[in-house]
Amino acid sequence: MQDTKKLIETLAGKYGTKRESLIPIMQGIVEKESYLSKDAMIEVARTLDISAAEVYGTASFYSFLDTDTRGKYKIRVCKSIICEMKGKNEILRTIEDILKIKVGETSKGGQFTLLETNCLGWCHKGPAMLVNDEVYTELNPKRIRAILGEYIREEKI
Ligand code: FES
Repeated sequence: MQDTKKLIETLAGKYGTKRESLIPIMQGIVEKESYLSKDAMIEVARTLDISAAEVYGTASFYSFLDTDTRGKYKIRVCKSIICEMKGKNEILRTIEDILKIKVGETSKGGQFTLLETNCLGWCHKGPAMLVNDEVYTELNPKRIRAILGEYIREEKI
C-alpha cells in the first residue's frame, strides 16, 4: 500500500488533484499495478477529495479500468453487434479452448485474462480484440491460434 500511496502522490503531482484528474490517475495506477485495488480507490478519493463511490462508479464504467486482479496479458474480445455478427462467439470459444479459461477468468499461471469489451472502433475489420494495447482484427480461429501461439511461446508456457 505504501508503494500505491507513493504512486498516487506522483500521479497527482503530474495530473493535479481536480476531478478531471481522476481518469488519468486511475489509468496510471492500472498501468503500474495492472488493476485498481480497493485501497488504491480509497486513496484516490482521499487525494482528490471526492467520494470513494464516485471513484468506484467511474472505474466500473470504463472497461479498461480494471478493479480485479488480471493476468499479464488482458485479452478483450469485442462483443458489440458487428463483431457478434462476424463470428465473435467462435473467436471466444477458440480462445477458451486454447487457454482453458472462460470469459472473466485468468489462466493458472496468471498470464492471460479473457474479457469482453464494447466496440473497439474496428467494426469494418471485425471480429476484433485487444491484447493489452495491441489491436488484432479480421480474426478467425486459425489467426487466433497463431496470435496466442506467439504469446504462449514468449511466455514459454
Ligand atoms: S463492433 Fe466490434 S469493433 Fe466495432
